[in-house]
Amino acid sequence: MDVYEAVASRRAVRGFTDEPVPREVLERVLHAAARSPSGGNLQPWNTYVLTGAPLAELKKRVAERVASGDPGDEREYAMYPPELESPYRERRAAAAEQRYAALGVPRGDERARARAVAANWDCFGAPALLLCYLDRRMGRAQWADAGMYLQTVMLLLRAEGLHSCAQMAWSVYRATVAEVVSPPERLILFCGMSIGFEDASARPARTDRAPLAETVTFLTGWGDRGDQAGEARAVHGRGPGRGRGHVCPLPPPH
Ligand SMILES: Cc1cc2nc3c(=O)[nH]c(=O)nc-3n(C[C@H](O)[C@H](O)[C@H](O)COP(=O)(O)O)c2cc1C
Repeated sequence: MDVYEAVASRRAVRGFTDEPVPREVLERVLHAAARSPSGGNLQPWNTYVLTGAPLAELKKRVAERVASGDPGDEREYAMYPPELESPYRERRAAAAEQRYAALGVPRGDERARARAVAANWDCFGAPALLLCYLDRRMGRAQWADAGMYLQTVMLLLRAEGLHSCAQMAWSVYRATVAEVVSPPERLILFCGMSIGFEDASARPARTDRAPLAETVTFLTGWGDRGDQAGEARAVHGRGPGRGRGHVCPLPPPH
């Protein structure tokens, strides 16, 4: 599987079989993912992997909290900005619609939606859970590093024929996770990740993506190949940034 195939076939899978994930496969993936880049090579991720009895215990304890209507622990970080503005609000809503439509959950069926959300804490049936913690003194740049690391893990899992679902949902019941995992106090739980083999009978949701022009701006102006002078031109008034205020007087490349 090449990188494009791994990227294209990765998606948030929310239905797994109970087929165990071999320990050596997880070790191979995590060994390779340790090559992920990080600013200053801090490698700020602290990873725990749960399978078997510890995972069963965690699922059981969290299921009890969910069943009792427990809304979760005090948040240590905001999953989303409090007021999600356009276009992010619409994108989030569309992803939710696509997900519930794939599951056949009608709009307004809050109980069915709640059940779908609660499946997070059963790892959607997956037999393995990765938990990514960060030192609470780390800043935004290190959180971004953790994101790169998690994506590397997810792509390598594809190369192993496995699927995954990243899950901030585990942070909702972080105290229960901590009871089972016993992380040092200095660590904060960012994200979980269910890992396993996809249940072919589950109904996958395929999310859309914004058109490239919405999220990417090319700045042109170095001229054609062979323009050795690298004359900075054409940024003003033409190119994709036109009319959008993306004017960036960059120095010529070296
Ligand atoms: C950091 C992160 C946290 C996520 N948390 C959850 C989660 O708690 N539960 C869930 O079902 N999906 C979660 N997702 C999956 C996203 O909803 C999903 O990646 C997004 O809708 C795009 O769909 P795709 O991954 O299938 O392409 C998370 C994804 C990321 C990157």
